[in-house]
Amino acid sequence: MSITRRGFLESAVAASLATGLNAQNNNNNNNDGESSRRGKRPIIICAHNGVKYLDDAFAFLKNGGDTLDAALRVVKGPEDDPNDDSVGLGGLPNEEGVVELDACCMHGPTRRAGSVGGVRNIKNVSLVAKAVMEHTGHVMLVGEGAERFAVAMGFPRENLLTERSRKIWLLWKEQHSTDDWWGPGLADPHWEAPALPSTTPPTTAPHSELWQQRIQRLEERAAELGIEPEFRAAAVRRVLSPPTGTIHCSALNDKGEISGCTTTSGLAFKLPGRCGDSPIIGAGCYTDQDVGSAGATGSGEENIKVAGAHTIVENMRRGLSPLEAGMDALQRIVRNYNHDMNKLQFIDVVYFVLRKDGAYAGVSLWSGYSEKPHTIVVHDGTRRSEVTVSLFKGASHEFPPFPVAMPKELTKDSVYVK
Ligand code: GLY
Repeated sequence: MSITRRGFLESAVAASLATGLNAQNNNNNNNDGESSRRGKRPIIICAHNGVKYLDDAFAFLKNGGDTLDAALRVVKGPEDDPNDDSVGLGGLPNEEGVVELDACCMHGPTRRAGSVGGVRNIKNVSLVAKAVMEHTGHVMLVGEGAERFAVAMGFPRENLLTERSRKIWLLWKEQHSTDDWWGPGLADPHWEAPALPSTTPPTTAPHSELWQQRIQRLEERAAELGIEPEFRAAAVRRVLSPPTGTIHCSALNDKGEISGCTTTSGLAFKLPGRCGDSPIIGAGCYTDQDVGSAGATGSGEENIKVAGAHTIVENMRRGLSPLEAGMDALQRIVRNYNHDMNKLQFIDVVYFVLRKDGAYAGVSLWSGYSEKPHTIVVHDGTRRSEVTVSLFKGASHEFPPFPVAMPKELTKDSVYVK
């Protein structure tokens, strides 16, 4: 059946809302779409790793602080925290073991933007993005030039690779050991012959058993590398399914001024020089003083291809609610893979959406792990965490990542118009 683009979008939004709201009911979700209709100002929304810094930022905003400065107060917290390996100091490094950071910001009241990509040795890249906005005639600086600019602006150079992140990177390097010259080498008691098709008989072990063996080997190696026992499972998870980390924050004051920012260490073990969506104005963050603000965490490449944050703000400009606007951006990601769940299971994106009247929504492609669903953190006088409205139930790339049969209600036929 062929449908017009307008028809597709309307059907897709309706179908995704039905799916999302249904999933949320099943999850006893409290981000029930009602929040899309209720507006309250001032308000700050952000990703879960900003929760510790929200009270301070909200008090600052309520006392007349600038909206971008309030948002930056939130994201600076995880940037400074060596134990948050998704952003700033302690972020997981690129494939060469070097931390490279991306960030951008938009200031609604003055309609300005700043951005930096692939920055090494400077932890507060969100503030460097703001400095680009305030102290240059440019919008974006990358790599060595961005680092030199930051130093000129007074930001200290420091080693961003913590011992924990270095060990996780080493564990990741060593899991490729049959394919490269990193240990364990031939002489190591842990060395195992690579599976060569011509010499190795096909294994009869079930897939799940092979995964268990692999995970056990990684956990043993994590212990040998000195990764703390309570952090080993998380380290193995990061190796098997490299995370994208990231924090976004949008802030709106009682006058209706609005700003946003996003910062990240990007995809773990990426190729050096890779920039994700976080430094891309319109993808990782977009703010329009007339409409609202949006930002993203998750699979950066997918979000860039739909210009997610800009798409959401433009959707709201056309009259969609924050929830509908976010769901439509997710549908565009799904459309890019022709609704193929075999591929979509490896992608996840969370959008944080704030309209100028204080209405907001948190939406995600997947709902996340049942014990740790995706959330949006909100402060509008009351600080709270709300589960996102998701398009699909479950976690992307399950851990352990066994291939799982897709529940019938999540097949493309039930979600989309054919
Ligand atoms: N969303 C963060 C990244 O992909 O780099």
